[in-house]
Amino acid sequence: MNDLETLCKIEEECFTREPFSEEQIAYFLGSSKAVSLKAQVDGEIAGFVLGLIERSGNLLVGHIYTLDVAPRYRRIGIGVRLLEEVENSFRREDAEACVLEVRVSNLVARKLYRKQGYIEHRKLDNFYAKGIHGIQLEKKLKK
Ligand SMILES: CC(C)(COP(=O)(O)OP(=O)(O)OC[C@H]1O[C@@H](n2cnc3c(N)ncnc32)[C@H](O)[C@@H]1OP(=O)(O)O)[C@@H](O)C(=O)NCCC(=O)NCCS
Repeated sequence: MNDLETLCKIEEECFTREPFSEEQIAYFLGSSKAVSLKAQVDGEIAGFVLGLIERSGNLLVGHIYTLDVAPRYRRIGIGVRLLEEVENSFRREDAEACVLEVRVSNLVARKLYRKQGYIEHRKLDNFYAKGIHGIQLEKKLKK
């Protein structure tokens, strides 16, 4: 929570349209079901991931709500590292799978997730706003 201001700044750099608000980020950080991780380079926050452990029927799933790397720290593996670490945290909480949504137009993120074993399994029409469609992705976390 001490990093809230910095996280909001990075979120706004990452998402020029519909970033999570300060209140939403504070909600994720404060939730007892949250898994939130930050990446630091030389003491500076370079990126972060926010997720929640949720129930889906009888199963627990880890749901990633945002994965952000500040523009000056991109393409050096921080996104993949944050993703791997949040998956490990979800596994420790006994989650069977990791799910997330991404904009259809976010080709960079879709490439990263596919490379990390995510399956694009459902199109979500008008998920972000009218005309801004999403895709739901999923990765099994257990054998
Ligand atoms: C998506 C994002 C998190 C990637 O972070 P990153 O630290 O730059 O990613 P990595 O360095 O770990 O890259 C991992 C792989 O993703 C793909 N990738 C990442 N950036 C890419 C780019 N600009 N163009 C093409 N492929 C890219 C590549 O396959 C890359 O592997 P490689 O470098 O070996 O080719 C970052 O671009 C970002 O914060 N974007 C804005 C927010 C966002 O879209 N978040 C995801 C949706 S929630």
